[in-house]
Amino acid sequence: MKGIGGCDLHELAARFGTPLYLYDAERIERNCRALQGAFNAHYPATDSFYAVKANGNPHLLRLIAARGLGADCAAPLEVTLAERAGIPRENIMYTGNYESRDDLAAAARCGAINLDDITALDKLPAGFDGILSFRVNPGEGGGSHPGIITGGPGAKFGIPLESVPAAYRLAADRGFTRFGIHLMAGSNNRDPLFFARMTAIICHNAAGIFRPLGILPEYLDIGGGFGIPYTDDETPLDLDATAKAVAGTLALCAAQHGVTPPRLRIEPGRYIVGDAGYLLTRVTGIKEGIHRFVGLDAGMNTLLRPALYGARHRVTVVGKDTPAGVATLCGRICENTDIFATDIPFPAVTEGDIVLFHDAGAYCAAMAFPYNGRLRPAEVLCENGVARLIARAEDKTDFLGRYAV
Ligand code: LLP
Repeated sequence: MKGIGGCDLHELAARFGTPLYLYDAERIERNCRALQGAFNAHYPATDSFYAVKANGNPHLLRLIAARGLGADCAAPLEVTLAERAGIPRENIMYTGNYESRDDLAAAARCGAINLDDITALDKLPAGFDGILSFRVNPGEGGGSHPGIITGGPGAKFGIPLESVPAAYRLAADRGFTRFGIHLMAGSNNRDPLFFARMTAIICHNAAGIFRPLGILPEYLDIGGGFGIPYTDDETPLDLDATAKAVAGTLALCAAQHGVTPPRLRIEPGRYIVGDAGYLLTRVTGIKEGIHRFVGLDAGMNTLLRPALYGARHRVTVVGKDTPAGVATLCGRICENTDIFATDIPFPAVTEGDIVLFHDAGAYCAAMAFPYNGRLRPAEVLCENGVARLIARAEDKTDFLGRYAV
């Protein structure tokens, strides 16, 4: 691979050290354009809200906001990140779960809140004048790994369909007048028909919920979940087919219920940043054991997805393309789940070689943690051959400073 955003990988490793997260600015912009382009072509009444949890780096948020996306936030500090990126209130939405009163006090700064349960209504500060919505558990979900399915019988999220009308009735009784309706049933889904099915569920239910209240919802939100391929044998999500299927479903549903087609909200996270990110790491040790172990200076603390979900990431060695047997890639953490890949075809490497994990823009830096005293890496944004530090590496003072109480 030639480099990222015109930047040479050896130079980046030498200048910023490893492990190091890298982002390709142009790719993020292209992903924003692709997603918005597809939905605008088929359903112009679509508003996109980037799911900050995928990667909350403020420099990336600013890039994404400049393309016209709003922000979907899951916690008060994510609201702060969105505000600092200059995103206006009406384009900031809050979708939490099991929120405390303090959480909802912060959420009230947003233009819309998707509540996870009817009981959350009592915790909402008086005077919230944004759009109120409930998150529906549609009774099914779908995603690339069981751990990232967020709808259906095993999900901790949302309100079962049969209880949703009562939630809106209560909110209307309490004097709320501006409503939306929300679902998010799984992540990393590459099946257009899944999104159409979710749209149908939420749309038909919305009709039954809002008609008796004499209210029109200001949006139908089908969440994020737009998937990306992580291996060479996975095909990309057909965005055009997805947007077309969702639009067709909305048009049909609105016609059947005799209502104007609603505004649509989507909350993409992974699709925007996933394939624009990389993790650059170096070989620190090689052990010929039961497997041929290649140890890296990144571990599950740097890139958790393989240990947490069994997720796979494409991996290449900089300057070495030809496999010379198999290797098991692992980190330096004292956990036996600290393994990135087992017995994969791999080039002959030596200590110091640079190994690159691909598709590491979403839920990678965002989920890094300093276990074993292995600190969080720096992040660099690459564009037109210019590399810019956008997060410094966590240092000894950050780590030890917390204990100075
Ligand atoms: N909206 C809500 C309310 C969400 O909970 C999520 C993700 C999204 C939007 C964005 O979903 P996306 O478009 O990125 O699929 N850590 C896991 C993914 C967990 C997703 C959690 N919610 C992973 O590494 O795959």
